[in-house]
Amino acid sequence: MKILGITCSPRKNGNTEILMRQALKAAGMEGCETEMFRMSEKDVAPCDACQTCFETGGCIVQDDMQELYEMLESADGVIFGTPVYFGSVSAQGKAIMDRMFALLQRRALKGKVAGALVVTRRVGAIQTRSLIYSFCIAQGMIVAGGAIGYGREIGDVLTGVGGGIDMSAMEESRVLGVSVAQLVKKLQS
Ligand SMILES: Cc1cc2nc3c(=O)[nH]c(=O)nc-3n(C[C@H](O)[C@H](O)[C@H](O)COP(=O)(O)O)c2cc1C
Repeated sequence: MKILGITCSPRKNGNTEILMRQALKAAGMEGCETEMFRMSEKDVAPCDACQTCFETGGCIVQDDMQELYEMLESADGVIFGTPVYFGSVSAQGKAIMDRMFALLQRRALKGKVAGALVVTRRVGAIQTRSLIYSFCIAQGMIVAGGAIGYGREIGDVLTGVGGGIDMSAMEESRVLGVSVAQLVKKLQS
């Protein structure tokens, strides 16, 4: 059982990455293998709408997305993590979502478990989480849940609140990791 975390902040070791580490640690404790794809160290171009994937199910743009395609195909569960940028996912997050159109052609993500992890200073978390949920459902994925963390400066989420009642950002992220791992296990048993 493999859980992939995709961190779509351009900020190295930022809040999204801190919470993703927490979620993946929890998934690991549930017996899953985990790995993280950090957009802060990758180069993924936006979709250029060449439509080649309509015919082939593959993307001809040669960049770090090719590595992510392989990681996505071998994962049983995927947690999408993004900071809120002007009420939406980051540009890095949007680029990978659009490039995943190639996987939709083959329904390659159908039946895989999904989670959403969203970090914001103040506003936009719910709509951004909904956007990720909608994307995952469009891909045929099964959404296990989401987590929200509030914070601005790097490290704020370590002590920041989450979106749920009396939940810290760290606790909410831990619960997300457990939820994704447990749903993967349930679906495989
Ligand atoms: C370009 C940009 C746009 C942002 N837009 C919002 C926003 O709409 N709402 C908000 O509350 N915070 C916004 N923020 C703040 C980030 O969501 C916040 O700093 C978050 O902790 C960043 O996560 P990271 O450390 O993983 O990059 C924005 C930050 C940047 C750089």
